[in-house]
Amino acid sequence: MASLDELFSAARAIQQKAYAPYSRFKVGAAIMTPSGQIFAGCNVENAAYPIGTCAEAGAIAAMVAAGESRIAAIVVMGEGESLVTPCGGCRQRIREFASPETPIHVAGPEGIRKSFTLDVLLPFSFGPENLTAR
Ligand code: THU
Repeated sequence: MASLDELFSAARAIQQKAYAPYSRFKVGAAIMTPSGQIFAGCNVENAAYPIGTCAEAGAIAAMVAAGESRIAAIVVMGEGESLVTPCGGCRQRIREFASPETPIHVAGPEGIRKSFTLDVLLPFSFGPENLTAR
């Protein structure tokens, strides 16, 4: 089982791989699944600005491609002094594969700065259950 330290290290390592020539703001994200595996992703920007993708989206794509579909914990690593919490769209992306209690750790290069649960970042959320409860 991977530790939070390993998850943090995975996010920090992949942040360096980010392709962010436009914003110059590199982000890394690392997901731990219940089986203890780690999947990481970075932001990938594009000259057509709106189609750039977030680090969290890359990590989720890697997880799904490996056949996993539950997020036990996620670390998001951004630049600067302030908290780089997942954007609104990524909160919803995480929501698809997580539970309300799933920890979302927001990190800087020095370590975890603050930990939230998904429910705190995305209260009263819409999810797969809405589509089956009809
Ligand atoms: N970004 C992420 O990758 N994840 C977030 O949660 C916040 C923003 C990226 C998108 C864009 O490439 C850059 O950070 C600046 O917004």
